[in-house]
Amino acid sequence: MTAAPRRYHITTFGCQMNKADSERMAGILEAMGYTWADTPDEAKLILYNTCTIRDNAEQKVYSYLGRQAKRKQEEPDLTLIVAGCVAQQEGEALLRRVPEVDLVMGPQYANRLQDLLEQVAQGNQVVATEPIAIIEDITKPRRDSTVTAWVNVIYGCNERCTYCVVPGVRGVEQSRTPEAIRAEMEHLGQQGYKEVTLLGQNIDAYGRDLPGVTPEGRHQYTLTDLLYYVHDVPGIERIRFATSHPRYFTERLIRACAELPKVCEHFHIPFQSGDNDILKAMARGYTQEKYRRIIDLIRHYLPDAAISADAIVGFPGETEAQFENTLKLVDDIGFDQLNTAAYSPRPGTPAAQWPNQIPDEVKADRLQRLNHLVATKAAERSQRYQGQIVEVLVEDANPKDPRQVMGRNRRNRLTFFTGDIATLRGQIVPVQITEARAFSLSGQAVTLTAHTPVLSA
Ligand code: SAH
Ligand code: SF4
Ligand code: F3S
Repeated sequence: MTAAPRRYHITTFGCQMNKADSERMAGILEAMGYTWADTPDEAKLILYNTCTIRDNAEQKVYSYLGRQAKRKQEEPDLTLIVAGCVAQQEGEALLRRVPEVDLVMGPQYANRLQDLLEQVAQGNQVVATEPIAIIEDITKPRRDSTVTAWVNVIYGCNERCTYCVVPGVRGVEQSRTPEAIRAEMEHLGQQGYKEVTLLGQNIDAYGRDLPGVTPEGRHQYTLTDLLYYVHDVPGIERIRFATSHPRYFTERLIRACAELPKVCEHFHIPFQSGDNDILKAMARGYTQEKYRRIIDLIRHYLPDAAISADAIVGFPGETEAQFENTLKLVDDIGFDQLNTAAYSPRPGTPAAQWPNQIPDEVKADRLQRLNHLVATKAAERSQRYQGQIVEVLVEDANPKDPRQVMGRNRRNRLTFFTGDIATLRGQIVPVQITEARAFSLSGQAVTLTAHTPVLSA
């Protein structure tokens, strides 16, 4: 009689990098014979892939973990794993705080999960946080979607923004080779995937660490070169990339986006603050004028491109007038979407040590004012879709209404329309927009004639 398969559950916090890592770790576990359990309580192996970008993200991990640590006291054969950015940040300290944990592993170890579990099986508590070279994907990820996929292109970050834990927890930049990236995309195309998002914390740094220089003296493999290199992969209809850094963003990249039909007209370029002194204190390496020039340039080549970004309020020393410069930038540019956050002091980062911290009430007030403006501007931006026909790549059923399907248009707006997911999943459908809300659209599928104007490329 064979033993029942061990079941596993992964809970993922944080950004797209963590989501991509979780999919690869799930692939490793399934290759080892584990099967997915829908909840942690049904699983015998529980992996928390953690985020520490802000304090509340970190605290969430401890509350989830505490529950399962208690369960382990009754069920000693439970395997508890903490992976990701809190694991990297805390290392050994995590074992002292939660001694029930079997394995603490930093993000660079995601592809080595099997080796680490073998050490755990020998009865060891294992901490894997030493910086190492990331090994090339050794297994097939278990992806959450059958339509859209993440493809890592560069790991780590060499910037030193004074508020940010990412360089400390993700390590130095490591680019994958263009060949490995293309091979992964070809495989995705063969499996029926339609959309790929190329991922990097600072994707504009892609290729800087790879050997090779062009006759003009630039790195041989920039992000722009990569887009040209992968854009004709069969089956893949849409290519996105994130996250862009204003400091390194180039006109050449915008031209490539305008030229290459599969590259979607959406740019995610965090600006963090609209005030030059704050930008300087953040060590971001650009001014708000430079940021505005980038957006102007994008709109010159691609007038209708969607622009999204991240911003922080209440950075140490931020005055009301400096915060208003952020409001002004948001008002002037009109972002399609903006991720906003109150500054959170993080261990090991310079800004956390500074004496001029902003009181929580002030941060909360600024966050609320900024969010209000963001929603107003996003609603204005959505209006341009009203009555238009947009191309929607159908990803899933609407979880709130199974008669509807949902997907995104090329500019990344979530769009709902009536339809059957069984026949539409993975299809690109022309949809006429009948309702435009701040962050999503609704419409009806239409049949195109040769003369229907479609808001696409
Ligand atoms: N690499 C990207 C962003 C990575 S982190 C970039 O350079 O823009 C994602 C977002 O979290 C950041 O853009 C920033 O807006 C936010 N963030 C990072 N550290 C933070 C902190 N200490 N407090 C509040 N927000 C933070
Ligand atoms: Fe953090 Fe700055 Fe690197 Fe982005 S570029 S991950 S904000 S250090
Ligand atoms: Fe969080 Fe780590 Fe991503 S800290 S935002 S999961 S890189």
